[in-house]
Amino acid sequence: MTAFTLDVHLPPDFAAQALARDALAGLTSTPKTLPPKWFYDKVGSELFEDITKLPEYYPTRAEREILEARADEVAAASGCDTLLELGSGSSIKTRLLIDAIRAHGGLGSYVALDVSADALQDAGMSLVADYPDLAVHGLVADFEHQLDLLPAGGRRLVAFLGSTIGNFEPASRAAFLGSLRAALTTGDRFLLGADLVKSPDVLVAAYDDPAGVTAAFNKNVLSVLNHGLGANFDPTEFDHVAVWDADSEWIEMRLRSRRAQDVHVDALDLDVHFADGEQMRTEISAKFRRETLEGDLSAAGFTPAGWWTDEAGRFSLSLWEPVG
Ligand code: SAH
Ligand code: AVI
Repeated sequence: MTAFTLDVHLPPDFAAQALARDALAGLTSTPKTLPPKWFYDKVGSELFEDITKLPEYYPTRAEREILEARADEVAAASGCDTLLELGSGSSIKTRLLIDAIRAHGGLGSYVALDVSADALQDAGMSLVADYPDLAVHGLVADFEHQLDLLPAGGRRLVAFLGSTIGNFEPASRAAFLGSLRAALTTGDRFLLGADLVKSPDVLVAAYDDPAGVTAAFNKNVLSVLNHGLGANFDPTEFDHVAVWDADSEWIEMRLRSRRAQDVHVDALDLDVHFADGEQMRTEISAKFRRETLEGDLSAAGFTPAGWWTDEAGRFSLSLWEPVG
């Protein structure tokens, strides 16, 4: 008997309301910014999956390498029987964890939380086809504001893979880790995939591929604004930019205006002027060091319970126990 349920916890006007709020704040600030959660409509989620297959984008392959080698160890160290995942996307790598937990002591249910209903629907259908006896539950929700929705029960392993933690700004990262800690209880564990600091050449290539897939992903946010808010961005009038900020240790993705231009956003009744060459920040992707991660996690009330990297030391998977 297959079991896949999908609960939508975002209000029907989420895109209209929250997108409008974020777009108004971001397009009227200096410099202009947009939050990365708006990349992931159906097209954006598919473009992200295309990115994961690019030769230059090593994080997905490096994290998969760790899971292939270590998922059994993670399952044993966590002792968990319930798997919850934040920003689960396609859930492809998660299968390695599901297999390991099932082999280790049994998996009661898998709960996937993502802001993208399309990604959850596709992942859920594919999982129940391959794991007919597993209860799979999709939650369409925002992990920045709705961690209270994580269901109680069982010994829970909360996975946050893919280095999506790098897409938070430092203050939001601290707030997220604090609310995650508050949502966890004794016996629960947190499994974090985090990309590591490395040569800027390797990093910039991963975010500026010659095939232009990352550029298309970046520009897709303009289409999301066009569809969601009646804006008239012309994506061909912007260039994709990826730069390494050595002080902050993050990659910054931006869209650079090819000329002076004005954009109108109907739903906000807003005219936005872009100067020639003006850059709008669309994403940061922070890269981590073991000691800074330990500092951040410890400040939020976690203690280390496991640390693994791929052979080349590009990416980390770490296990954390809530304390205090
Ligand atoms: N974990 C997967 C996907 C990473 S892509 C992997 O490792 O390959 C980032 C995912 O996080 C996308 O599926 C996106 O829809 C989701 N996401 C981004 N911001 C979010 C938010 N605020 N709340 C919930 N999901 C979010
Ligand atoms: C989802 N997130 C961790 C990706 C990253 O690497 O920061 C999103 C991405 N942006 C450009 N390429 C991939």
